[in-house]
Amino acid sequence: MEPKKKNAMAVTLVFGILGVSLLIASFATDHWVKSSPVLKRSTQSPANETDGSATKYTGNITFGLFRGYRVLDYGIGPRPQDINVVCSGSDGVCAWSNSSDPAKRADYMKRIVKFVDNVKTNGTVKDLIDYGLFNFGLWVSTIVMLALGIVWGLVSLGFTAFNVVGKPIETITGPAGLYLWNGLAGTFSLLGALLYVGLFTKDLATNVLPKDDVDIGWDSNDRTQLDYSFFFVVGAVLSFFVSNIILVVSGQKLSCSYNRAAEKELDNGMILY
Ligand SMILES: *[C@@H]1O[C@H](CO)[C@@H](O)[C@H](O)[C@H]1NC(C)=O
Ligand SMILES: *[C@@H]1O[C@H](CO)[C@@H](O)[C@H](O)[C@H]1NC(C)=O
Ligand SMILES: *[C@@H]1O[C@H](CO)[C@@H](O)[C@H](O)[C@H]1NC(C)=O
Repeated sequence: MEPKKKNAMAVTLVFGILGVSLLIASFATDHWVKSSPVLKRSTQSPANETDGSATKYTGNITFGLFRGYRVLDYGIGPRPQDINVVCSGSDGVCAWSNSSDPAKRADYMKRIVKFVDNVKTNGTVKDLIDYGLFNFGLWVSTIVMLALGIVWGLVSLGFTAFNVVGKPIETITGPAGLYLWNGLAGTFSLLGALLYVGLFTKDLATNVLPKDDVDIGWDSNDRTQLDYSFFFVVGAVLSFFVSNIILVVSGQKLSCSYNRAAEKELDNGMILY
């Protein structure tokens, strides 16, 4: 391979490492979403406190795919708590529980399941969101897509390194394959990001608080945003696609290599039979 192409491939290696690292960082950091809810005291407070000035009690919530952290001020000073995802796959819902006790979390899930059964016959989807529930399917598929993004990203890294240092023959392990592995890593990461955007706009943007907090007047609607861990995934998608653009610009053959490899195999096949 020409040195110019090898250099280009070394650059794609850097972008590949960046992409995989960003995906891993998105899993490892708990800042996919941030929210600053306010306590409006709509139900349990003196009439005086229901006007605009009643937003003096605030909180901050951040979470990742599995865990998070929240500080709510109920009027007696900030109260920090860890939060964890609890899910009922059979009911297709998850929620954020602020209980540190696994038994209590399981209990919370039981209450949710009962609530979901009730809603199925009587309620609406909005009731589910008000209860702080979000879509299990979207959440799981986000995680699966990102995991596949990491797997294909690693495959791509392996073969890129192999192409930089080794003498690849022009088959799927060669330059042409890199388009495929990078493309797969980028596509799965993009799907993961899109699924999470779906989950965010459909459920999380409306409410990230459990029912108990909603009942006493906490409100996170329009106070919730995607945060930097999510944008790591966007960065990863860009890295994988930039890798492919560099390969194209540096003139790595795409289709010809496939054809030639295929022809070679065909020839071999004819000799064999
Ligand atoms: C409402 O505010 C007024 C003065 O601002 C006060 O006199 C009154 O006691 C308050 N009412 C309640 C229910 O807190
Ligand atoms: C939430 O974050 C804001 C801005 O960082 C801060 O001013 C506020 O005190 C925080 N609220 C709590 C309850 O920690
Ligand atoms: C449905 O709603 C009605 C009236 O609001 C109530 O009487 C009934 O118990 C509810 N059904 C269930 C399964 O909760």
